[in-house]
Amino acid sequence: MLSLYSVGMEKGLLYETILSTLNSDGTPNAAPIGVICKDDHEIVFYLHKGSKTFDNVRREKSFYVNIINDPMVFVESTIGNLDNEEFQSDEENGFFVKSAEAFFRAEVSSEKLVHRKDHLGTFTTYVVRAKVLRIVKNQEHVIPLNRAIYGIIEALVHISRINIVSEEEKNVYLDRISEISRVVNKVGSPHHKMAMKKIWESLDNQE
Ligand SMILES: Cc1cc2nc3c(=O)[nH]c(=O)nc-3n(C[C@H](O)[C@H](O)[C@H](O)COP(=O)(O)O)c2cc1C
Repeated sequence: MLSLYSVGMEKGLLYETILSTLNSDGTPNAAPIGVICKDDHEIVFYLHKGSKTFDNVRREKSFYVNIINDPMVFVESTIGNLDNEEFQSDEENGFFVKSAEAFFRAEVSSEKLVHRKDHLGTFTTYVVRAKVLRIVKNQEHVIPLNRAIYGIIEALVHISRINIVSEEEKNVYLDRISEISRVVNKVGSPHHKMAMKKIWESLDNQE
């Protein structure tokens, strides 16, 4: 039986995936969602109230996670929705995305609604832990999307320019590197975090 590790996931990392869910009228929906690999057959993710995905996962308790690297699928499913022809239905009344490198069905195993209040208002987040049921690979080598390496490359591009720009621009670059660092520490592995630490150390050494 395939595990999350066989589709390139590592324990503790957050991957940008496309969740496909069933609307109440029986049509499919897709949205990009960050999914944390907790174990070989377990994931955790956070859904913010207001999306169809939030409603659909709460109602159905079952969904598909699609591993995809196509930028157009991310754009279309964020701004609107994928065309119905881009989905395929399964025997269990769900839909996965046809072009996925790999996909798996998962079922909610525990759930929690968390309310958070700040100066902008009250936010409700649905914290979902789910059991991975059936993994299908459509190609031999699957690469789930993790943002850490892209962040590190962007930070290095900034670092390599930081000594040739004005003081004002340097501060802009430092702010960008701070934001990248926040993302890498949220989604990356210990190896990514160590790389980011080295970037900060190189900046400290320059001062
Ligand atoms: C890369 C990426 C990751 C995202 N991750 C999440 C997430 O983890 N949780 C969430 O609630 N929204 C997340 N979003 C935002 C939703 O995808 C977005 O609100 C989407 O429009 C919801 O669509 P829906 O109403 O069809 O469900 C993410 C968006 C992007 C682009």
